[in-house]
Formats: sequence, structure tokens, C-alpha cells
Amino acid sequence: MSGVDKELLFQYILDNIDIGISIINKDGKFIYYNKAMSEIEELTEEEVIGQHVLDVYSGIDGETSTLVRCLNTKKPIHNKMERYLNKNGKELYSTITDIPIIEDNEVIGVIEFCKNMGELGKVCRSFEKWYNSIEYPMEDLILDKEINSHTFNDFITKNVQLRDMLNKLEKMSAYNYNVLIYGETGTGKEIIAQSIHNGSKRWKKPFIAQNCAAIPENLLESIFFGTEKGSFTGALCRSGLFEEANGGTLLLDELNSLPMYLQAKLLRVLQEGYIRRLGSSVEKRVDVRVIATVNEKPEDLIKRNRLREDLFYRLGPIYVNIPPLRERKEDIEYLSKYFLRRESKKLNISTPGISKEVIDFLMKHSWKGNVRELKNVIKYMVLHGVNNEIIKIEHIPCYLRDQMPEELKLSENEKELTYNEKVIQFEKDLIKNTLIKTNGNISEASRILKIKRQTLQYKIKKWEIQ
Ligand SMILES: Nc1ncnc2c1ncn2[C@@H]1O[C@H](COP(=O)(O)OP(=O)(O)OP(=O)(O)O)[C@@H](O)[C@H]1O
Ligand SMILES: [Mg+2]
Repeated sequence: MSGVDKELLFQYILDNIDIGISIINKDGKFIYYNKAMSEIEELTEEEVIGQHVLDVYSGIDGETSTLVRCLNTKKPIHNKMERYLNKNGKELYSTITDIPIIEDNEVIGVIEFCKNMGELGKVCRSFEKWYNSIEYPMEDLILDKEINSHTFNDFITKNVQLRDMLNKLEKMSAYNYNVLIYGETGTGKEIIAQSIHNGSKRWKKPFIAQNCAAIPENLLESIFFGTEKGSFTGALCRSGLFEEANGGTLLLDELNSLPMYLQAKLLRVLQEGYIRRLGSSVEKRVDVRVIATVNEKPEDLIKRNRLREDLFYRLGPIYVNIPPLRERKEDIEYLSKYFLRRESKKLNISTPGISKEVIDFLMKHSWKGNVRELKNVIKYMVLHGVNNEIIKIEHIPCYLRDQMPEELKLSENEKELTYNEKVIQFEKDLIKNTLIKTNGNISEASRILKIKRQTLQYKIKKWEIQ
């Protein structure tokens, strides 16, 4: 290789490789940023070099930034798929590997390798979000709805007023009125919003959901209304939420977290039907149905200057109030049995019964997380009571059992069991739970339990564990 300038050669390779590469020093400032990185993140080398990581990307902190985490922990992070925003608000999807550069046991920097995931990243992310939110294996792909595809049939309730309201709402979905939904967390606001969209003529057009509290304040306007190239340093030509939802429905979650000046702008769009991108003088017509949600009473929000009264009236021709679960007790048992059937079907087991003591307890619980919390509790109980015909007190998750009155805490069996019987019960549960984890694989379970396969097989047979 004599005669070849290695430094120039490496420089050439680094600049032409299609993998983004950047390096930060021990102070978290960029010292290298190659061309591919610049293309992936739509930032120029000048904008980045010498800047601190947290100033280059929006909405991240020392905890969420992989570069900073790698710097602080000295541990590499491999192939992590990330969604993040550059400082101009551009949404990015990349797969990232961060490796600490260590000299004399000290981290002197971090090198990052980055591959753009683009559209694929978006799809994977939305799949991941959906899949993680249901927290259960592949059967859910069939049983749970496709993303954004809920209809009114998916909202389960026995409450007469709520049923009545849903029937009216279903009829009104066809009209283009905006909607305001009020309900505590986990009461099904998203199901209703999707059902309205899917029950309208807009169903083939986009349904875009945005949590207003999740956008950094300095980016709110550009994310809502879009930007024109050059409207501020580094700004690109990109559409905002209204343009993206054009023809369809825009769900604005936690509307009350929007600052008042933006609520005023939102009101103007709703009244006039036009938006103007930041830095542009051209008005664009948009046809968007807005569904907004709040998780506190609108009257209180108006009083506390968190929600504009005129916006409330503009949104409120259709106003939906979903009462919390503790105020519709009849739904607790009804929904529990509904989720019990669904969860058993997913596990391919026959639906167990549910003891009166468990029902009594569920009825008394305050359900701060509403239906979402109940759904998760039932999932847990079905899984933990998998070989039982009846779901009993001992299958209730610990965090809930801790809130129970003392006499209920003892399982129905525990009350009359002897010491030896309790030990056997414990052993049975241990084996059952390990077999669930290994999907019924006895060899693997015996390895985890560190007992001989034959011994495990003997116990399974003796206690008729399925
Ligand atoms: N009435 C219901 N029938 C069936 N499932 C429900 C019902 N209400 C809520 N769920 C389920 O509970 C979970 C939470 O529902 P959803 O996301 O619609 O609540 P939300 O009100 O939008 O909550 P958040 O305010 O936290 O965003 C979902 O899994 C949903 O399927
Ligand atoms: Mg929601």
C-alpha cells in the first residue's frame, strides 16, 4: 500500500459509504458527521459539528438519547430501532449501533453507525407499538383488530346511557361534525374516535392520531401546519398534520395540553378550513374532521384557562362523555367475562369461571386505569390460573392483592391447607408457570428448574398438569 495516502483513502470510504457514521467526544459534542448521516438526518455537517447531541435532536434527554446513554454507561447499544426528531422537527426512523471508544479505561467518545429505515421504519414502529400494547403472542394478530380499524361493536358496555349515546353517535358519524370526547385514561376514547372515522364516508382516507402533549412546544406549529423551505434555519418543505389528514380524520389527544395561542390558531382552521405552512404566504384548503380528547372535565379546563371556550363550542356539536369504570359497576363483571373469553381463546383453553370473591373484589376496586387496567388484570389472571377451572383470589396480581382486606388475601385453598399441602401447591404452581414460559417444552422447563427431565415428567403425571 506504499504510495497510497491512507487517511485520504479512509476519508473517501467514510464519505461514500451508505451507512451514517458520527462521532461524539467525551463532552457529548459532535466531532465527526459523514455525508450519509447528513442525508439520513437531513442536517448539514456545519449544523452539527461542535454541537451537543441534545441540541441537535428534539424531544430527547440524557435518558432517551442512545449516544448519551452509551457515553455514560460505557456499554455498546446494538441495532436499536429509533424514532426521533432532528432539530428542525423532521421525523426520523433509523437503526442505530453506538459503540463507546475507550482509552485507559475512560470513555473518550462514542461512534455511531446508523441505517435509515424510512417507510419501513414507520411500519415496523407502528406494528411494534400495536403489538407491545397488547402484550401477547401472535394469536393476537388474528384476534385483535388491525391498527385504526375499530368500530362501534368493539366498545363493550352494558350501561344503558352509554349504549344509548353510542347508538346516537354511530348515526351521527356520517355527518362531518367535529367531536370532543371526555374520559379518564383507559376509558376507550381511541376506540370511539376510530369508530367514528370508520363509520363515516372518510373511512378510506387517513386517520391520524397525535398526542398533543408529546410534541415539544417549539415544534407544535410546524408539526400542525407544516413548513416551507427556509422559513427558519434548516427548515424543509414538509406538510403538517392537517395536510396529512386531508380528506380524513385528525385525532388530537390531550387537546388541553396545547398552549392557548395554538388553540386560537386551531379554531381559525376549523372555522375557515384553510392552513398556511410556516414561512409561506399561500393558504391551502384542507378538509379535515377533528376529533379531540380531554381527560379532565371541559368545564373545569375552561375555568382554569387550559381550554378555550370558543374552541370547546366549535368542537362540541358532538360531545361524548365516557364515565369512568367505577361509575358503571354493571360493566365490571360484564367486561371481565368478555375479556376472560377472549384471553382464553387466545391461549386455546376453555374459558374458566370466576369465583364470587374475585368478582366482589373487582367490583370494589377503584380502577384508576379504567378498562385498560381491567383488561390487563384479566389477562394476568387467565395466564396465572391457566390450569384452573375457576379464577380465584390467588390469581389476582400482587399489586391488587396488596390493596385487599386481609381476610380476602388468603387464597380459598390456603385457608384450610396444611404445611405440606401448601408446599405441594407451591411446587405445582412453579411447574405450571415454567411450562407456560417454555410453551409446554418439558426438556427446557427441566433445565430452567434444574431438575431431571424424568423427575419433572413424573410430577406432571402425578399432579395431572396439562
Ligand atoms: N368499552 C370497552 N370495550 C372493550 N375494550 C375497551 C373498552 N374501553 C377500553 N377498552 C380497551 O382498553 C384499552 C384502552 O382503550 P383506549 O386506548 O381507547 O383508551 P383511551 O381512553 O384512549 O386511553 P388514554 O387516555 O390513556 O389514551 C384498549 O386496549 C381498548 O381496547
Ligand atoms: Mg387514547
